[in-house]
Amino acid sequence: MGDDTLSDRLASAVHDRYVAVNGDHPMTAADDAYVREHFVPATAEAVRLMLDGLLPLPSYLLSDGTPMVPADHGLLAEVAGGVERLHDWFVAFWPDDPATGEAEWGHYLSGQYVCLEEVSPVRIRQKTERVAEASAAVELLRRDPHDEIGRGMIGEAVDGVLAVPGLDSLLRPMTAYDRLRFGGPTVRETWVDGPRREFLTPVAPVWPLRTERLVLRPFEPGDAAALAEAWADEDYASLLLTHTQNPSEVAEMVRRRADPGDGRFVGLVAEHDGEVVGDSILILQGTGLSEGEIGWTVLPRHAGRGYATEAARAVLRMAFKHYGLRRVVANLDARNDRSAALCERLGMRREVHRIGDFWSKGQWTSSYEYALLREEWRAAGG
Ligand SMILES: CC(C)(COP(=O)(O)OP(=O)(O)OC[C@H]1O[C@@H](n2cnc3c(N)ncnc32)[C@H](O)[C@@H]1OP(=O)(O)O)[C@@H](O)C(=O)NCCC(=O)NCCS
Repeated sequence: MGDDTLSDRLASAVHDRYVAVNGDHPMTAADDAYVREHFVPATAEAVRLMLDGLLPLPSYLLSDGTPMVPADHGLLAEVAGGVERLHDWFVAFWPDDPATGEAEWGHYLSGQYVCLEEVSPVRIRQKTERVAEASAAVELLRRDPHDEIGRGMIGEAVDGVLAVPGLDSLLRPMTAYDRLRFGGPTVRETWVDGPRREFLTPVAPVWPLRTERLVLRPFEPGDAAALAEAWADEDYASLLLTHTQNPSEVAEMVRRRADPGDGRFVGLVAEHDGEVVGDSILILQGTGLSEGEIGWTVLPRHAGRGYATEAARAVLRMAFKHYGLRRVVANLDARNDRSAALCERLGMRREVHRIGDFWSKGQWTSSYEYALLREEWRAAGG
């Protein structure tokens, strides 16, 4: 028997096993392109080991029948100390639950772990844990979208925290073919795109916000004219986090701020009697978008009348009541006495005094971080 015939027979045996596991579904040209980009053709040796049940079956068969596997298909066997040790090494990741270890081994061998960027026992465990966390979070947040445990959990599950990878980094996009073989949306669609859309996409309140003396509304391109003089002034900008800006730069900044974008930057202009007196911003950030950073300016000729305080109170109310944030912070140059006084008036706590950490306009300066938790705001009668 010639080599060609042998390899044809191996290829046809792998094809049959693959179809038995996955069903017979069409691969589109887009599916082929995706698979070629993320996977590599299986070697003849790998095909033999697949048929002996020692290495996973192909992740995909291209429409021309080429069996495709992850680029690191054989790597785990090397790490395990040889392909015949792979099973024992693999199931040892579930020491307290051997049945799950065996089930995962079976799933691994089937080649169907195509949702993972890296197919390994560690990633499989992380995916299982994060999906369970996301599922519990979705239940909590459907009952109360502001539930702070739910927000922490959804943030960790989808985006990850520090050394805990979230599903966004663990999961591949997958293909239309996968929707057919698994009979529904991809894992990423269910556990990253869905929760992002439902719980991690801020929805703005109805504008404007009104206070006793002010109307707070989103930026409009025409606001640049009212702000240009102050933002070009060196004294005024000296303690701001940005540099001075010329009128064109201010117009560009205002144009960007007027664009609602992904809703995480909320830029508001404060008007008194139809005249712009300053602005307030809130940036939604942190795990599960549960924190906001607040910022403010008042135009020099409107300072000292309590407008910044009044606007910031409305923004804090919006942050806690509308967006359901659990914490709002303000970062400032430690020399900015008026801004620090404003934080104190708002009942914010000076949480951090960083010494010489902040490079600003040619020198190192210190900075403060102020913070306020939702429960503190409520307790103070917010
Ligand atoms: C930081 C900044 C917004 C603070 O402005 P401000 O005018 O001090 O703050 P307010 O508008 O809340 O006004 C408060 C002052 O008005 C007085 N006031 C007058 N009428 C008032 C009223 N009806 N209600 C409340 N306060 C009133 C307050 O007593 C207070 O004065 P005081 O500090 O002398 O006691 C302003 O200095 C600024 O825009 N700076 C440049 C930009 C900047 O640094 N931004 C912050 C970057 S982190």
